[in-house]
Amino acid sequence: MIAATSTSIAWIILLLAIGGWILYGIFNLRKGRAEVGSEQYLAANRKPYYDDEELEGPRLERVQLLGLVFLVIITISLPLYWILEPNRQAEAQFGFEKRFVKWGSKLFASTADGGYNCAGCHGGMKAGGGVAAFAVTDPKTGEVKSVNWSAPALNTINYRFSEDEVRFILNYGRPFSPMSAWGTVGGGPLTDQAVTTLIDYMKSIQIPQAGCTETRAYYDPTCDSGSLPEENNKEIMDEATRLVDTGVYGSIGEALFNLDLHGGAYNCARCHTKGWTYGDPQATGGGAFGPNLTGGSSVRQFPNQADMISFIKNGSEYGKRYGEQGQGSGRMPAFGQMFTDEQIKLIVEYVRGL
Ligand code: HEC
Ligand code: HEC
Repeated sequence: MIAATSTSIAWIILLLAIGGWILYGIFNLRKGRAEVGSEQYLAANRKPYYDDEELEGPRLERVQLLGLVFLVIITISLPLYWILEPNRQAEAQFGFEKRFVKWGSKLFASTADGGYNCAGCHGGMKAGGGVAAFAVTDPKTGEVKSVNWSAPALNTINYRFSEDEVRFILNYGRPFSPMSAWGTVGGGPLTDQAVTTLIDYMKSIQIPQAGCTETRAYYDPTCDSGSLPEENNKEIMDEATRLVDTGVYGSIGEALFNLDLHGGAYNCARCHTKGWTYGDPQATGGGAFGPNLTGGSSVRQFPNQADMISFIKNGSEYGKRYGEQGQGSGRMPAFGQMFTDEQIKLIVEYVRGL
């Protein structure tokens, strides 16, 4: 805001200066033409100048006063510049980010709008979750059938994955799914810069964190709370409660594990239950993109329940050890900012009983 005002003021000063120079030019050209007479009398160095009395008297004082005026201007404007500069820089940085967000939105748009169709599968420009048409082959019969594959909401992607992990997903895709590899390293059409630009766009559509200022509406890692706003948590809790009340699931933990909201962005089944994501679920938690969680395997991996809770909260990290004999790949999302501690505890208790 301040930066915008100072930019306008600078523009006015610039225009005034340019206008002044033009006027000066016109004025001098005309004066130059009008000049006639002998150079002997007109040359500046030949004209008699002020005498000492005049030079060291009022004229000197006038020049000194002028010097004082400029000193005052400098004394005021330098600190002012110093005060306003950080804000100007921050605004410039923000403006820079906004330009990338705008370019990213063009890449993100549906095919009809000239983009790469992220919006077409993931539920529009706000990417609240959608479906993608896909064909799956039955490994036993070889039969091919067309399915609707859930495409998770991306407006919480920065709550669940680090920027590097998101970059990995964009570069290499999920090869068995409608999500193809987009980066050149994965064999896709997008350059590194285009992938980064898309990541910038996705930051701009994140649901603002609870208690964060709207001026930086998108996901801000420096923001204190880090978690989803209460109304979003309430939405998933209401749905889970409804599913338990109507007898679909036996517990809140089970309902959250299987929650079919926003393309499965809030659940576990889309990665840990084969077929869940295209409406043909096999054994719950039986393993798909993520490992099999049944038969007490999660209890063997995490003999201590608190370790498992902390793993679900923080997700896996590339190369890092987890549990008894686990090594992370960065593909297991972090749920600490998506769910409350209470909800994670309920999910963990359910998974340990699988
Ligand atoms: C043809 C449909 C389709 C298109 C186009 C598409 N996606 Fe996806 N995307 C999916 C599906 C389906 C998944 C989930 C795959 C799975 O089951 O693991 C997914 C997963 C993702 C994920 C991981 C989400 C998570 O929580 O696991 C990200 C990030 C993502 N897509 C971003 C993008 C971006 C950015 C683009 C545009 C360049 C894009 N997608 C284009 C269908 C699509
Ligand atoms: C985007 C896919 C995805 C989602 C969603 C997901 N997981 Fe995972 N999960 C994985 C992957 C992949 C691993 C393996 C670790 C790795 O590769 O980093 C894993 C590992 C695990 C493990 C350790 C298993 C072992 O034996 O090593 C547990 C427990 C687990 N997930 C529970 C959950 C729970 C509970 C949820 C829901 C709150 C969940 N996962 C959601 C992909 C996912």
